[in-house]
Amino acid sequence: MDIQRIGVIGCGLMGSGIAQCAAESGFQVWVKEADETLLAKGMARIQGAWDRAIAKGKLTDDRRGEWTRNLHGTLAFATLADCDLVVEAIPERLDLKLQTFAELDRVLNPAALLCTNTSSLSVAQISPALSPHRPPRLAGLHFFNPVPAMPLVEIIRTLATDESTLAALRAFVQKLGKTAVMAPDAPGFVVNRLLVPYLLDAMRCAEQKLTTVEDLDAAMKLGCGHPMGPLHLSDFIGLDTMQSVAEVLFDAFGEPRFKAPSLLRQLVAAGRLGRKTGSGFYRWEGEKRLEAMPL
Ligand SMILES: NC(=O)c1ccc[n+]([C@@H]2O[C@H](COP(=O)([O-])OP(=O)(O)OC[C@H]3O[C@@H](n4cnc5c(N)ncnc54)[C@H](O)[C@@H]3O)[C@@H](O)[C@H]2O)c1
Repeated sequence: MDIQRIGVIGCGLMGSGIAQCAAESGFQVWVKEADETLLAKGMARIQGAWDRAIAKGKLTDDRRGEWTRNLHGTLAFATLADCDLVVEAIPERLDLKLQTFAELDRVLNPAALLCTNTSSLSVAQISPALSPHRPPRLAGLHFFNPVPAMPLVEIIRTLATDESTLAALRAFVQKLGKTAVMAPDAPGFVVNRLLVPYLLDAMRCAEQKLTTVEDLDAAMKLGCGHPMGPLHLSDFIGLDTMQSVAEVLFDAFGEPRFKAPSLLRQLVAAGRLGRKTGSGFYRWEGEKRLEAMPL
């Protein structure tokens, strides 16, 4: 199947990044948001990224004009009727996702591919919202944050996903200039199943005062060649997000390594959610990490 027209549902953090990358790669992209204000905000985020690229001399006005012409906003599911592939990136709530897929089921042509960017729900749980012919065309397409900078996409197959869907998604990811890995439809897929216990263990080390927050991050950054230390990365992801992902994984596997440490719960309860609230393991000024905060 030749994918040319892409629909993206939700123009938040992830949806705007997915739409941006698809527009830059020459696809015609329709982004659907819940209302005008949110749509304008999401589109402004994409244009802001292009503004910064122009200011740095990395993008020309002509090229930006071309990319902008590839990008269309909408509030109506019906506008997506001719899309070959739709990627859903709305909040992580199964009820909302089921409603969205039921709407897509009504408007899309029978050959369209349907994907969710969920990070913790089971992809197969979306199937009940769809007509019986659609599950072979349903898969997970799990992008990483920030989407324009992160080269990996996990492709998640359910027991019903067919080979032609996977082949078309692999080709799509390649056209985005990213690398696809196949992942199981199991909690955490591949990356979060390995990454989350490591981040939670780093928090347990901080809790037990193994060393300081700064030294713990420096140890993993300089000793293992990671681009940032685990506590820095947790602040970047958001400590509330870390807590809910840990809860999903602990529920699924029941292993202590997935349990949210008491320190994480205390920080979340105190409103120290990381970069987005200006404090977590560190103090933050916008994107800039400042000193470690007392624990
Ligand atoms: N944030 C991350 O680091 C990350 C990484 C990988 C995957 N994900 C997953 O991606 C999905 C989106 O996460 P996010 O961080 O972009 O969330 P977000 O809150 O930034 O964006 C969600 C957007 O969806 C919009 N929306 C809600 N209902 C809608 C509807 N019916 N139609 C159209 N738009 C609607 C909201 O207005 C919002 O702008 C979630 O499933 C999340 O688990 C997030």
